[in-house]
Amino acid sequence: MAALVLFGGGGDLAIRMLLPSLYFLEHDGLLPDGLKIIAAARSEESREAYLARVKDSVIKRADGHWSDESFARVAERIDYVAVDATSAEGLSALKEKLGDDRELTYFLAVSPSLYGPIVRALKAAGLTGPQARIVLEKPVGRDLESFRQIDAEVAHAFDERQVFRIDHYLGKETVQNLIALRFGNTIFEPLWNNLSIDHVQITVGETVGVGDRWPYYDEYGALRDMLQNHMLQLLCLVAMEPPSDLDPDSVRNEKVKVLRSLRPISAANVRDVTVRGQYVGGHGPDGPVKGYEEERGAPSDIDTYVALRADIDNWRWAGVPFYMRTGKRLPEKRTEIVIQFKPVPHSIFDQRGDVVANRMVIELQPEEDISLTVMNKRPGLDQRMQLQPIRMSLSWGVDGKGAKPPRRRIAYERLLLDAMAGDSTLFVRADEAEKAWEWVDGVSEAWAEAEYRPHIYRPGTWGPDAGDRLLARDGRTWNTND
Ligand code: BG6
Repeated sequence: MAALVLFGGGGDLAIRMLLPSLYFLEHDGLLPDGLKIIAAARSEESREAYLARVKDSVIKRADGHWSDESFARVAERIDYVAVDATSAEGLSALKEKLGDDRELTYFLAVSPSLYGPIVRALKAAGLTGPQARIVLEKPVGRDLESFRQIDAEVAHAFDERQVFRIDHYLGKETVQNLIALRFGNTIFEPLWNNLSIDHVQITVGETVGVGDRWPYYDEYGALRDMLQNHMLQLLCLVAMEPPSDLDPDSVRNEKVKVLRSLRPISAANVRDVTVRGQYVGGHGPDGPVKGYEEERGAPSDIDTYVALRADIDNWRWAGVPFYMRTGKRLPEKRTEIVIQFKPVPHSIFDQRGDVVANRMVIELQPEEDISLTVMNKRPGLDQRMQLQPIRMSLSWGVDGKGAKPPRRRIAYERLLLDAMAGDSTLFVRADEAEKAWEWVDGVSEAWAEAEYRPHIYRPGTWGPDAGDRLLARDGRTWNTND
């Protein structure tokens, strides 16, 4: 029989994301028959009290999709066990609950400093057979060296094919749709290179601040928390060569080639091609908010905003900058990839300002949509032809027949199913994570060497002015969606 064990089962990630995901999968009849779900956590808590917490969280999330019946079905699968997951003896209660189950998926929703100890304990307790799988939540390590240490510990008990390094951005529907768009159509791929594309922008804006998460955040900053993983994964999917099939290794081989081609950033150019920022207190979109240092209660040099220009040194992308920016306390929760095409080589229209180059916007949040801006004739009898930009939505939700878009899934739904089925296409392979860390370590070492402290920025703005100057010096601006 199969079992899914959630270490850190009582924590924020499990309660807010994983259990609601499992509820939805149950609701849609997608959970494997007989699957047991065991929440393993450090503190003693009754199964009833735990299920009450889970129910509250699911209700909040379910919106119009709540069903008593579906919750009762998923609750029946769920058990709670208090463990000390760092020793074989501490896992005995879990072992008892697992009985003869052999198809085991462990999800580590705990601090990465516990990954090594938990894996050792699982092995010592005899809970790691060839059919077991382990899912590691990001961040795996804080730099290349700590990533390698953790990875080596995990490798003592699990083969690479059994390890699933999660990056929940890869579970987002629009991210997968990007693969469909690029490789399921003939019309875009011939243009997907430096002959037609001027530059690419990747923005992940968040309105939330760091708040109580500062003990973690102060060690990582925006660079390690967001850019090393989510944003570089998005960059890889935009930039990779067509894989020969959707086999996990075919896709990941192509992604790792992109990471290998990223031009290193050094102290000599770090002030030109990167921007660090940290928010101060002020008025955010929802009222007054504290500055990062006030939340932390002490001065700090960590970045809550980062923007940079990445260059991919290969034939396809030579000369096409990939600008990336992410930050907390920005004006909008907005994640988008913008593919900015080049202007027409020669304009036959005498109109100036309104003629804009084609632009594709792949929006992940707040809506899921892919749109393309094209130029079109303004209707009317003007003597001289007038153009106007129109935005065509390529979104799967809008098919012109008024079809109701499907429920927006939590990214973890897809990833949990894939991990339990052993499909690692949407998970990060060790060499990808290594290359991403190597490049990001280069940026943070360059910051240290150049003594580059974050610029401050006010909440509710798009980061420090230097973020705009990063593009302005190349004659470009960030997309504004106006
Ligand atoms: C997490 C980061 O990985 O992603 C958080 O640790 C961030 O700091 C979150 O808020 C953003 O995820 P999403 O799916 O809301 O864009």
